[in-house]
Amino acid sequence: MATSALAVENVALSFGGVKALDQVSFSVAPGTIHALIGPNGAGKSTCFNVISGVYRADSGVVRVNGNDVTGLRPHQLATRGLGRSFQNLALSMHSTVLDNVMLARHSRTRGGFLASGVRWPAMVAEQRKHTARAVEICEFLGIERLLHAPVGGLSYGDAKRVDIARALATEPEVLLLDEPAAGMNAGETAEVAELIKVVREALDISILLVEHDMTLVMGVADRITVLDFGKVVADGTPAEVRNDPEVIRAYLGEQD
Ligand SMILES: Nc1ncnc2c1ncn2[C@@H]1O[C@H](COP(=O)(O)OP(=O)(O)OP(=O)(O)O)[C@@H](O)[C@H]1O
Ligand SMILES: [Mg+2]
Repeated sequence: MATSALAVENVALSFGGVKALDQVSFSVAPGTIHALIGPNGAGKSTCFNVISGVYRADSGVVRVNGNDVTGLRPHQLATRGLGRSFQNLALSMHSTVLDNVMLARHSRTRGGFLASGVRWPAMVAEQRKHTARAVEICEFLGIERLLHAPVGGLSYGDAKRVDIARALATEPEVLLLDEPAAGMNAGETAEVAELIKVVREALDISILLVEHDMTLVMGVADRITVLDFGKVVADGTPAEVRNDPEVIRAYLGEQD
């Protein structure tokens, strides 16, 4: 069997008495779109934060392309092929779209440009190369017309695209998307679904997404892992998960 692009193995994390993650295991096959779903408080964001190095798990292992990355910080993970977007946009609102994307790209180049000690003509050439790639990523995401616009003035949908552009600027092999369609209407959600498929196909990367919108999840995911109260209660194709009694129970319970 091919090595998983991303593997979560027996990860546990408690906050006080709350077991936010309880022996969670699942894996994302290379080149697939994998969704992590579950009712409010199920542990989805916590799991994302463990994978992306924001939280440290009490126990368990996270692997990217088979390599143990458990406990690495977010900027270290970026150099190991893991990129992420944020549920609440973590953009620099007064800076332009291009500056936001460039900042993400710089954080990936070891030590940054200024600290690298290269002679400046080489540095300028290097800078130009990175700018060209940042512009290319923005074109790909349909935000090239906004390159020099401050992020603070963008529509929510465009700001989400900038967020994804930032994650792609680190050239990830595995992209984590936290609620890419949160706060969007049906039309915008359909656009995001299309975008996710295009990103996967064009860049040949693996994507793990947390999302509440079931239409989006069922439409784009190759495989789905379902969490409830910190535990994996189902794992399978959209068709399998949709008809799983445990999943139906978890979601009906949410409406009590
Ligand atoms: N930093 C924290 N401190 C204490 N408890 C936390 C913290 N983060 C999450 N929790 C708790 O851990 C559990 C899982 O929360 P988490 O945010 O991961 O759920 P979620 O699946 O992302 O929910 P939602 O769909 O509402 O975003 C919840 O009981 C939550 O209250
Ligand atoms: Mg969450």
